[in-house]
Amino acid sequence: MKAVRFHEFGGPEVLRFEDAERPTPGAGQVRIRVAATSFNGVDGNIRAGFMQGPIPVELPHTPGLDVAGTVDALGADVDDVAVGDQVIGFLPMTGIGAAAEYVIAPAEILTGAPRNIPLADAAALPLVGLTAWQALFDHGKLTAGQRVLINGAGGAVGGYAVQLAKEAGATVIATASARSADRVSAAGADQVIDHTATDVAGAVTEPVDLALNLAPVTPEQLAALVALIRDGGALVNTTVWMPAPSDEERGVRGIDLFVRSDADQLADLAARVGTGELRVDVARRVALADLPALHADAAAGTLPSGKVVVTVADA
Ligand SMILES: NC(=O)c1ccc[n+]([C@@H]2O[C@H](COP(=O)([O-])OP(=O)(O)OC[C@H]3O[C@@H](n4cnc5c(N)ncnc54)[C@H](OP(=O)(O)O)[C@@H]3O)[C@@H](O)[C@H]2O)c1
Repeated sequence: MKAVRFHEFGGPEVLRFEDAERPTPGAGQVRIRVAATSFNGVDGNIRAGFMQGPIPVELPHTPGLDVAGTVDALGADVDDVAVGDQVIGFLPMTGIGAAAEYVIAPAEILTGAPRNIPLADAAALPLVGLTAWQALFDHGKLTAGQRVLINGAGGAVGGYAVQLAKEAGATVIATASARSADRVSAAGADQVIDHTATDVAGAVTEPVDLALNLAPVTPEQLAALVALIRDGGALVNTTVWMPAPSDEERGVRGIDLFVRSDADQLADLAARVGTGELRVDVARRVALADLPALHADAAAGTLPSGKVVVTVADA
C-alpha cells in the first residue's frame, strides 16, 4: 500500500511517499481503508523529533492522528464494528498514523461517521472537535448563561469551540484576524475581536467565566487573559509548551489541556454534525502524495486558517 512516512526526524523533507506493508489487525483492532486523515499542528513537532518525550514514536513513522474511512478487516474479539462500517477516530498518538491507504485502529476508539457530509471531510472532526469539547466542558465546566472568551477562534479547534459554546447557551467572545472573522461570526460568536489590530485585554469589557487559549501568544499575553476571568473562573490552555497561569488568591484555575481519545464524546459530536447543529469546515483538501508539501507549508507559516484534510481514497 502507499503511505507517507519518515525514517528519521527532521524537516518536511524527511517525509517520503512510499510503499509500506499493508497491516493486519490484532485482537481488539480493525483495519480501516482510509478515506482521509488531517493535518494537526503537533504533526510537524512529532516529525521534527521535538515530542519524543511526551509522544514517543518508532521509526519509520506514519503521521496522521485523525482517521475517516471504511472498516476493511476485523481482528479477534471485535464485536461493535463490522466490515463496511464508515468510521472516524482519533488514533493513539504514539502509534502508526493514517497517512496511508490502510491503518490499524483499536475498535474502542471508533465511532460511526456522520452520514450527511463526505466521509473524507469527517477527518476534520476527531482531534480538534474533542479538544474543543474537553476544553469547554470537561475542564472549563461551561454552562448556559456564562461568558466565554475564545482566544484563537480562527483556527480548527476554535471553529468547533465557538459553535459548541454558543449551542450550550454561552455568550461567546472570540478573537480572530480578518482572514477568519467572517467564519468565526458565522459559527456564532457574539463579539469578534481582531487580535492583529486591538488589544484583546482592553476589548473585553466585562469579566468572563472561562477563557480558552488556542493561540500561539507570548507568555505575557497568556498571563494577561487571567485578569479578564471572574473570581473562581478558569483559563484552559491548549498551547501547552507554556504552562497555564492561575490566580490562586481569586480562585482562577489555570489548566493545561492534553486531548484524549473518547469514542463516546466523538459519537456525540458526530451526532451533532448529523443533525446539522455542528458544521464541519474544511479549509483545504490535499492528496496523500502532497502531504510533504503540506508540512512544508505549515513550517513556512503559509497554511490557510482552519482545518486541512488529507485525502487518501475515494469513498
Ligand atoms: N494540548 C492539546 O492536546 C492540543 C490539542 C489540539 C490542539 N492543540 C494546539 O492548540 C492550538 C490550536 O489548534 P488548532 O488546530 O486550532 O490550530 P490552528 O488551526 O493553527 O489555529 C490557531 C489559530 O490561532 C490564531 N492566532 C494566531 N496568532 C494569534 C494571536 N496572537 N492571537 C489570537 N489568535 C491568534 C490564528 O487565527 P487567525 O489568524 O485566523 O485569527 C490561527 O488560525 C495549536 O497550537 C495546537 O497545536 C493542542
